[in-house]
Amino acid sequence: MDKLIIEGGRPLHGEVCISGAKNAALPIIAATLLTGGEHVLTNVPDLRDTRTMLSLLAEMGVRHRRDGSTLSIDSSDITEAEVSYDLVKTMRASVLVLGPLLARLGRAKVSLPGGCAIGARPINFHISGFQRLGVTCRLEHGYVEAFAAGRLQGNSVYFDIPSVTGTENILMAAVLAEGDTIIKNAAREPEVTNLVDTLTAMGASIEGRGTAELIVHGVDRLHPASVAIIADRIEAGTYLIAAAATGGEVVVSGCRPDHLPALLEKLAEVGVDIVTVDNHVTVRADPISRARLKGVDIKTMPYPGYPTDLQAQIMSLMCLCDGMSVIKETIFENRFMHVAELRRLGADIRIEGNTAAVRGLGPGGFNGARVMATDLRASSSLVIGGLAAAGRTEISRIYHLERGYENLVEKLCAVGARVWKETD
Ligand code: EPU
Repeated sequence: MDKLIIEGGRPLHGEVCISGAKNAALPIIAATLLTGGEHVLTNVPDLRDTRTMLSLLAEMGVRHRRDGSTLSIDSSDITEAEVSYDLVKTMRASVLVLGPLLARLGRAKVSLPGGCAIGARPINFHISGFQRLGVTCRLEHGYVEAFAAGRLQGNSVYFDIPSVTGTENILMAAVLAEGDTIIKNAAREPEVTNLVDTLTAMGASIEGRGTAELIVHGVDRLHPASVAIIADRIEAGTYLIAAAATGGEVVVSGCRPDHLPALLEKLAEVGVDIVTVDNHVTVRADPISRARLKGVDIKTMPYPGYPTDLQAQIMSLMCLCDGMSVIKETIFENRFMHVAELRRLGADIRIEGNTAAVRGLGPGGFNGARVMATDLRASSSLVIGGLAAAGRTEISRIYHLERGYENLVEKLCAVGARVWKETD
């Protein structure tokens, strides 16, 4: 199994170019199931998760071709409408094929995802949303079997919590339904908006783009489209935090600063210098000014609030600041798995329920150690910790990182980090 070795304590300097967003690419790849013909997607990151989604579609008879970051997907022939446990257990986002398969074929069978490293993560909102559109869902032998007699029927669907993939699944199911569907308390994440734009380019009729109420006017048919995946705001945020944590100066280019409102505000509050020009963000926290960085409080919230997918990373930075920081995780119930590993680097963190109290170590900071990655974002907080730590850090189980960070080692080396992979 591969591990990542980091010789830390070196400020990062240079430019990092951001890849396409994993969490936008996954639903958009699934959306190509809605109609036959050749779809062209650009800026698609080559990650373990995007590969999993493509092999899942390949098992259904969908063909694809990759040329750099451009993917051509031809979903003219769908021979299967089933996704096995083996695939779903490696990637929960596999459930995103339910919506488009129901819209196109009126049936789908997908393994129910189990709990995962960050929480129980049920899909009850997806299922009750499909039922509102006239779908019958049966849970049997660990599978969701869904079918509809004829076309799905538009209806109102309300989410108790704005679920990202829930909103995406219902959107994809509703675009070919008969009549109108109103999704209330919809997720407003930029990845959802990227999907709305994709569906619109395919001929769907959707009002309320970027708001918590999406109105879908069902259409009779769709056509293939050419669409660009947005830049990955979580990858961008991870490099911004890494630059601040190492006391370096990094230009994060090809990103969407407007998709990072909460993080940029928080970094400024911490005392990091930030300059935003078009699609570039320059972050500067030289080693001397790092000594003056101060802990701030963070509460994760649905977009445009502070993203849960950047909670672990900012916690690493808070460990290096002066003073206390209180971090409250409101989205997932078990997303503090990185804390025990950060403690191995020297962190002083107390947890009570969904709240972590971080006592900043100040400029003394972390000391390198052997740590273990537990999920994707927890892993990236350990990378940030290792980059800032004095000495050598070894991170095992880095397959988690490969799910969501394209060319991580190459990008870090290009900004002066000493980092490499080794195989045990
Ligand atoms: N929830 C339910 N029932 C449901 C659906 C969600 O109770 O049927 C709850 C969840 O347990 C959670 C909350 O609603 O407490 C919000 O979860 P959401 O459904 O929005 O999460 P998701 O769609 O499963 C996506 C991202 C996650 C990201 C979350 C929150 C994708 C493929 N995944 O998950 O990304 O953390 O939204 O922003 O888009 C990651 O990239 O590392 C990652 C975990």
